[in-house]
Amino acid sequence: MGRNHLRAIKASDQVQVVAIAEPAVAARTALEPTGLPLHADLESMLSAGGLDGVLVCVPSTMHLDTVKRLVVAKLPILCEKPVGITAEQAFLAARLTAHASVPLQVGFWRRFVPALKRLRERIAAGELGEIYLVACYQWDGAPPGEYFRTHSGGIFVDMGVHEFDQTRWLTGQEFGDISALASGVAAEPWPGDPESAQALCVLSGGSSALVSLGRRFPLGDVCKVEVFGTRNADECRFLWPPTADDTFFEALKVQAESFAAYARGGEREGAGGDDATAALAAAERAASHLASGGVPP
Ligand SMILES: NC(=O)c1ccc[n+]([C@@H]2O[C@H](COP(=O)([O-])OP(=O)(O)OC[C@H]3O[C@@H](n4cnc5c(N)ncnc54)[C@H](O)[C@@H]3O)[C@@H](O)[C@H]2O)c1
Repeated sequence: MGRNHLRAIKASDQVQVVAIAEPAVAARTALEPTGLPLHADLESMLSAGGLDGVLVCVPSTMHLDTVKRLVVAKLPILCEKPVGITAEQAFLAARLTAHASVPLQVGFWRRFVPALKRLRERIAAGELGEIYLVACYQWDGAPPGEYFRTHSGGIFVDMGVHEFDQTRWLTGQEFGDISALASGVAAEPWPGDPESAQALCVLSGGSSALVSLGRRFPLGDVCKVEVFGTRNADECRFLWPPTADDTFFEALKVQAESFAAYARGGEREGAGGDDATAALAAAERAASHLASGGVPP
Protein backbone atom coordinates (compact mmCIF):
# COMPACT_ATOMS: atom_id res chain seq x y z
CA MET A 1 0.00 0.00 0.00
CA GLY A 2 2.96 2.28 0.65
CA ARG A 3 3.87 2.05 -3.03
CA ASN A 4 0.29 2.98 -3.98
CA HIS A 5 0.52 6.10 -1.83
CA LEU A 6 3.88 6.93 -3.37
CA ARG A 7 2.42 6.74 -6.88
CA ALA A 8 -0.68 8.75 -5.91
CA ILE A 9 1.23 11.50 -4.10
CA LYS A 10 3.65 11.86 -7.02
CA ALA A 11 0.74 13.39 -8.94
CA SER A 12 0.10 16.00 -6.25
CA ASP A 13 1.35 19.58 -6.48
CA GLN A 14 0.59 20.10 -2.77
CA VAL A 15 2.11 17.11 -0.97
CA GLN A 16 5.55 15.54 -1.31
CA VAL A 17 7.02 12.33 0.04
CA VAL A 18 10.42 13.37 1.45
CA ALA A 19 11.61 10.12 3.08
CA ILE A 20 10.64 6.46 3.50
CA ALA A 21 11.27 4.04 6.38
CA GLU A 22 11.35 0.45 5.09
CA PRO A 23 13.10 -2.31 7.09
CA ALA A 24 12.92 -5.01 4.38
CA VAL A 25 16.12 -4.89 2.33
CA ALA A 26 14.49 -6.10 -0.90
CA ALA A 27 11.68 -3.53 -0.63
CA ARG A 28 14.20 -0.79 0.17
CA THR A 29 16.33 -1.70 -2.85
CA ALA A 30 13.25 -1.59 -5.05
CA LEU A 31 12.62 1.95 -3.79
CA GLU A 32 16.12 3.22 -4.73
CA PRO A 33 15.01 4.53 -8.16
CA THR A 34 12.73 7.03 -6.34
CA GLY A 35 15.88 8.93 -5.31
CA LEU A 36 14.29 9.55 -1.90
CA PRO A 37 16.17 9.16 1.40
CA LEU A 38 15.51 5.57 2.53
CA HIS A 39 15.74 4.58 6.19
CA ALA A 40 15.96 1.09 7.66
CA ASP A 41 13.60 2.04 10.49
CA LEU A 42 11.29 4.72 11.79
CA GLU A 43 13.81 5.95 14.40
CA SER A 44 16.37 6.76 11.74
CA MET A 45 13.76 8.64 9.68
CA LEU A 46 12.57 10.61 12.71
CA SER A 47 16.16 11.50 13.67
CA ALA A 48 16.83 12.83 10.18
CA GLY A 49 13.92 15.25 10.68
CA GLY A 50 12.29 17.45 8.03
CA LEU A 51 8.85 15.79 8.30
CA ASP A 52 5.51 17.61 8.52
CA GLY A 53 3.58 14.37 9.02
CA VAL A 54 3.86 10.60 8.62
CA LEU A 55 1.79 8.22 6.51
CA VAL A 56 1.69 4.89 8.36
CA CYS A 57 1.52 1.87 6.01
CA VAL A 58 3.08 -0.80 8.22
CA PRO A 59 1.21 -4.10 8.80
CA SER A 60 -1.99 -3.53 10.79
CA THR A 61 -0.64 -5.37 13.85
CA MET A 62 2.02 -2.59 14.14
CA HIS A 63 -0.30 0.41 13.74
CA LEU A 64 -0.75 1.16 17.43
CA ASP A 65 2.97 0.99 18.34
CA THR A 66 3.78 3.22 15.36
CA VAL A 67 1.10 5.73 16.34
CA LYS A 68 2.46 5.74 19.91
CA ARG A 69 5.96 6.57 18.65
CA LEU A 70 4.66 9.35 16.41
CA VAL A 71 2.69 10.85 19.29
CA VAL A 72 5.96 11.14 21.22
CA ALA A 73 7.50 12.77 18.12
CA LYS A 74 4.44 15.12 17.96
CA LEU A 75 4.02 14.46 14.23
CA PRO A 76 0.61 14.49 12.51
CA ILE A 77 -0.41 10.97 11.45
CA LEU A 78 -2.26 9.61 8.44
CA CYS A 79 -2.65 5.96 9.49
CA GLU A 80 -3.77 3.30 7.06
CA LYS A 81 -6.94 1.46 8.01
CA PRO A 82 -7.86 -0.29 10.24
CA VAL A 83 -5.64 1.39 12.96
CA GLY A 84 -4.79 -1.91 14.64
CA ILE A 85 -6.75 -5.10 14.42
CA THR A 86 -9.07 -4.57 17.41
CA ALA A 87 -11.44 -1.76 18.35
CA GLU A 88 -9.47 -1.39 21.58
CA GLN A 89 -6.25 -0.66 19.65
CA ALA A 90 -8.01 1.97 17.53
CA PHE A 91 -9.61 3.44 20.65
CA LEU A 92 -6.19 3.74 22.32
CA ALA A 93 -4.72 5.37 19.21
CA ALA A 94 -7.64 7.83 19.13
CA ARG A 95 -7.30 8.63 22.84
CA LEU A 96 -3.51 9.03 22.80
CA THR A 97 -3.50 11.33 19.78
CA ALA A 98 -6.42 13.41 21.09
CA HIS A 99 -4.78 13.74 24.50
CA ALA A 100 -1.49 14.89 22.92
CA SER A 101 -3.32 17.11 20.37
CA VAL A 102 -1.61 15.21 17.55
CA PRO A 103 -3.76 15.13 14.37
CA LEU A 104 -4.80 11.58 13.45
CA GLN A 105 -6.53 10.83 10.16
CA VAL A 106 -7.43 7.31 9.01
CA GLY A 107 -6.96 6.01 5.47
CA PHE A 108 -10.61 5.40 4.62
CA TRP A 109 -10.02 6.76 1.12
CA ARG A 110 -13.62 6.11 0.00
CA ARG A 111 -14.51 9.38 1.73
CA PHE A 112 -12.59 11.14 -1.07
CA VAL A 113 -14.36 9.47 -4.00
CA PRO A 114 -16.54 12.12 -5.72
CA ALA A 115 -19.32 9.65 -6.67
CA LEU A 116 -19.66 8.53 -3.05
CA LYS A 117 -19.60 12.12 -1.78
CA ARG A 118 -22.50 12.86 -4.15
CA LEU A 119 -24.39 9.80 -2.95
CA ARG A 120 -23.90 10.91 0.67
CA GLU A 121 -25.23 14.36 -0.17
CA ARG A 122 -28.27 12.83 -1.91
CA ILE A 123 -29.04 10.71 1.16
CA ALA A 124 -28.56 13.67 3.53
CA ALA A 125 -30.82 15.86 1.37
CA GLY A 126 -33.55 13.20 1.59
CA GLU A 127 -33.59 12.63 -2.18
CA LEU A 128 -33.87 8.86 -1.70
CA GLY A 129 -36.38 9.20 1.15
CA GLU A 130 -35.98 7.01 4.20
CA ILE A 131 -33.36 4.33 3.66
CA TYR A 132 -34.46 0.69 3.72
CA LEU A 133 -31.11 -0.82 2.81
CA VAL A 134 -27.51 0.12 2.11
CA ALA A 135 -25.62 -2.74 0.47
CA CYS A 136 -21.84 -2.37 0.20
CA TYR A 137 -19.72 -4.77 -1.82
CA GLN A 138 -15.95 -5.17 -1.89
CA TRP A 139 -14.58 -8.02 -3.99
CA ASP A 140 -10.83 -8.18 -4.53
CA GLY A 141 -9.17 -9.65 -7.60
CA ALA A 142 -7.00 -12.10 -5.65
CA PRO A 143 -6.32 -12.96 -1.99
CA PRO A 144 -3.35 -11.26 -0.28
CA GLY A 145 -0.10 -13.03 0.58
CA GLU A 146 0.31 -15.30 3.58
CA TYR A 147 2.02 -12.75 5.86
CA PHE A 148 -0.63 -10.13 5.20
CA ARG A 149 -3.45 -12.60 5.65
CA THR A 150 -2.16 -13.69 9.06
CA HIS A 151 -1.38 -10.14 10.28
CA SER A 152 -4.47 -8.25 9.21
CA GLY A 153 -7.24 -9.53 11.46
CA GLY A 154 -9.32 -11.61 9.02
CA ILE A 155 -11.80 -10.70 6.30
CA PHE A 156 -14.18 -8.49 8.33
CA VAL A 157 -11.36 -6.55 10.05
CA ASP A 158 -9.06 -6.24 7.04
CA MET A 159 -11.60 -5.69 4.24
CA GLY A 160 -14.91 -5.05 6.02
CA VAL A 161 -13.78 -1.96 7.96
CA HIS A 162 -14.02 -0.03 4.68
CA GLU A 163 -17.69 -1.01 4.27
CA PHE A 164 -18.52 -0.47 7.95
CA ASP A 165 -17.00 3.01 7.81
CA GLN A 166 -18.63 3.76 4.46
CA THR A 167 -22.07 2.76 5.77
CA ARG A 168 -21.76 4.98 8.88
CA TRP A 169 -20.44 7.87 6.79
CA LEU A 170 -23.11 7.55 4.07
CA THR A 171 -26.09 7.18 6.41
CA GLY A 172 -25.06 8.93 9.64
CA GLN A 173 -26.32 5.81 11.44
CA GLU A 174 -24.50 3.53 13.89
CA PHE A 175 -24.35 -0.26 13.85
CA GLY A 176 -26.63 -2.37 16.05
CA ASP A 177 -26.89 -6.17 15.83
CA ILE A 178 -24.79 -7.87 13.18
CA SER A 179 -25.20 -11.39 11.78
CA ALA A 180 -22.61 -12.95 9.54
CA LEU A 181 -22.35 -15.79 7.08
CA ALA A 182 -19.26 -17.24 5.40
CA SER A 183 -19.61 -18.62 1.89
CA GLY A 184 -19.05 -22.35 1.77
CA VAL A 185 -17.24 -21.85 -1.53
CA ALA A 186 -13.48 -21.21 -1.56
CA ALA A 187 -11.11 -21.76 -4.48
CA GLU A 188 -8.26 -22.10 -1.95
CA PRO A 189 -9.67 -22.78 1.54
CA TRP A 190 -7.80 -20.90 4.30
CA PRO A 191 -8.47 -22.14 7.83
CA GLY A 192 -10.12 -19.47 9.95
CA ASP A 193 -10.52 -16.90 7.16
CA PRO A 194 -13.23 -17.43 4.55
CA GLU A 195 -12.69 -16.36 0.96
CA SER A 196 -16.07 -14.63 1.03
CA ALA A 197 -18.30 -13.50 3.89
CA GLN A 198 -21.44 -11.37 4.24
CA ALA A 199 -22.76 -9.40 7.21
CA LEU A 200 -26.37 -8.33 7.68
CA CYS A 201 -26.66 -5.39 10.03
CA VAL A 202 -29.25 -3.37 11.93
CA LEU A 203 -28.59 0.40 11.86
CA SER A 204 -29.57 2.88 14.55
CA GLY A 205 -32.00 4.78 12.30
CA GLY A 206 -33.92 1.62 11.42
CA SER A 207 -32.18 0.95 8.08
CA SER A 208 -30.58 -2.38 7.23
CA ALA A 209 -27.07 -2.78 5.86
CA LEU A 210 -25.42 -5.56 3.91
CA VAL A 211 -21.64 -5.89 3.80
CA SER A 212 -20.50 -8.31 1.11
CA LEU A 213 -16.84 -9.28 0.91
CA GLY A 214 -14.84 -11.52 -1.36
CA ARG A 215 -11.14 -12.14 -1.79
CA ARG A 216 -11.39 -13.39 -5.39
CA PHE A 217 -13.18 -11.75 -8.31
CA PRO A 218 -12.48 -12.33 -12.00
CA LEU A 219 -12.72 -8.65 -13.00
CA GLY A 220 -10.11 -7.52 -10.43
CA ASP A 221 -10.65 -5.29 -7.38
CA VAL A 222 -14.19 -3.91 -7.40
CA CYS A 223 -16.43 -2.01 -4.97
CA LYS A 224 -20.01 -0.84 -5.29
CA VAL A 225 -22.84 0.39 -3.13
CA GLU A 226 -26.60 0.13 -3.61
CA VAL A 227 -29.10 2.22 -1.66
CA PHE A 228 -32.83 1.54 -1.56
CA GLY A 229 -35.06 4.27 -0.13
CA THR A 230 -38.77 5.01 0.17
CA ARG A 231 -38.53 7.64 -2.59
CA ASN A 232 -35.72 6.50 -4.85
CA ALA A 233 -32.77 4.16 -5.22
CA ASP A 234 -29.18 4.55 -6.34
CA GLU A 235 -26.36 2.28 -7.38
CA CYS A 236 -22.76 3.42 -7.49
CA ARG A 237 -20.03 1.20 -8.96
CA PHE A 238 -17.39 3.53 -7.66
CA LEU A 239 -14.44 1.16 -8.15
CA TRP A 240 -14.93 -0.84 -11.30
CA PRO A 241 -12.95 -1.58 -14.46
CA PRO A 242 -11.88 0.16 -16.61
CA THR A 243 -11.65 3.23 -14.32
CA ALA A 244 -10.91 1.48 -11.00
CA ASP A 245 -7.24 2.49 -10.84
CA ASP A 246 -7.91 6.11 -11.78
CA THR A 247 -10.55 6.42 -9.05
CA PHE A 248 -8.34 4.75 -6.43
CA PHE A 249 -5.18 6.79 -7.09
CA GLU A 250 -7.06 10.07 -7.37
CA ALA A 251 -8.79 9.41 -4.01
CA LEU A 252 -5.43 8.59 -2.38
CA LYS A 253 -3.97 11.82 -3.73
CA VAL A 254 -6.87 13.97 -2.54
CA GLN A 255 -6.80 12.16 0.82
CA ALA A 256 -3.10 13.06 1.26
CA GLU A 257 -3.78 16.69 0.30
CA SER A 258 -6.66 16.85 2.76
CA PHE A 259 -4.43 15.35 5.47
CA ALA A 260 -1.78 17.99 4.74
CA ALA A 261 -4.37 20.74 5.28
CA TYR A 262 -5.47 19.08 8.53
CA ALA A 263 -1.83 18.73 9.67
CA ARG A 264 -1.35 22.46 9.02
CA GLY A 265 -4.16 23.23 11.48
CA GLY A 266 -7.25 22.98 9.25
CA GLU A 267 -10.39 20.93 9.82
CA ARG A 268 -10.20 17.16 9.42
CA GLU A 269 -12.21 16.10 6.37
CA GLY A 270 -11.32 12.41 6.43
CA ALA A 271 -12.04 9.76 9.03
CA GLY A 272 -10.67 10.05 12.56
CA GLY A 273 -9.74 7.67 15.34
CA ASP A 274 -13.34 7.44 16.59
CA ASP A 275 -14.46 6.36 13.10
CA ALA A 276 -11.78 3.65 13.04
CA THR A 277 -12.89 2.46 16.48
CA ALA A 278 -16.54 2.26 15.38
CA ALA A 279 -15.68 0.45 12.14
CA LEU A 280 -13.49 -2.06 13.99
CA ALA A 281 -16.15 -2.60 16.66
CA ALA A 282 -18.63 -3.51 13.91
CA ALA A 283 -16.04 -5.75 12.21
CA GLU A 284 -15.37 -7.51 15.50
CA ARG A 285 -19.09 -8.15 16.02
CA ALA A 286 -19.38 -9.64 12.54
CA ALA A 287 -16.25 -11.77 13.07
CA SER A 288 -17.41 -12.96 16.46
CA HIS A 289 -20.84 -13.93 15.10
CA LEU A 290 -19.09 -15.88 12.37
CA ALA A 291 -16.76 -17.56 14.91
CA SER A 292 -19.77 -18.61 17.00
CA GLY A 293 -21.28 -20.41 14.01
CA GLY A 294 -22.75 -17.49 12.04
CA VAL A 295 -26.11 -17.67 10.30
CA PRO A 296 -27.08 -21.36 10.03
CA PRO A 297 -27.08 -22.63 6.43
N1 LIG B 1 -6.73 1.67 2.35
C1 LIG B 1 -6.63 0.59 1.59
O1 LIG B 1 -7.40 0.40 0.66
C2 LIG B 1 -5.57 -0.41 1.89
C3 LIG B 1 -5.22 -1.37 0.94
C4 LIG B 1 -4.21 -2.27 1.24
C5 LIG B 1 -3.58 -2.22 2.47
N2 LIG B 1 -3.96 -1.28 3.38
C6 LIG B 1 -3.33 -1.21 4.71
O2 LIG B 1 -1.96 -0.86 4.56
C7 LIG B 1 -1.19 -1.53 5.55
C8 LIG B 1 -0.05 -2.26 4.87
O3 LIG B 1 -0.60 -3.20 4.00
P1 LIG B 1 0.26 -3.77 2.78
O4 LIG B 1 -0.67 -4.52 1.92
O5 LIG B 1 1.07 -2.70 2.17
O6 LIG B 1 1.19 -4.77 3.57
P2 LIG B 1 2.64 -5.26 3.16
O7 LIG B 1 2.98 -6.35 4.11
O8 LIG B 1 2.68 -5.50 1.68
O9 LIG B 1 3.58 -4.00 3.42
C9 LIG B 1 3.91 -3.56 4.70
C10 LIG B 1 5.27 -2.87 4.61
O10 LIG B 1 5.61 -2.38 5.89
C11 LIG B 1 6.99 -2.65 6.10
N3 LIG B 1 7.26 -2.62 7.53
C12 LIG B 1 7.14 -3.62 8.42
N4 LIG B 1 7.48 -3.18 9.65
C13 LIG B 1 7.81 -1.88 9.53
C14 LIG B 1 8.25 -0.89 10.44
N5 LIG B 1 8.38 -1.16 11.74
N6 LIG B 1 8.52 0.35 9.97
C15 LIG B 1 8.37 0.63 8.66
N7 LIG B 1 7.93 -0.28 7.74
C16 LIG B 1 7.67 -1.51 8.18
C17 LIG B 1 7.20 -4.02 5.46
O11 LIG B 1 8.56 -4.29 5.20
C18 LIG B 1 6.40 -3.85 4.18
O12 LIG B 1 7.13 -3.26 3.14
C19 LIG B 1 -2.14 -2.46 6.30
O13 LIG B 1 -2.48 -1.87 7.52
C20 LIG B 1 -3.35 -2.56 5.40
O14 LIG B 1 -4.57 -2.72 6.13
C21 LIG B 1 -4.91 -0.37 3.10
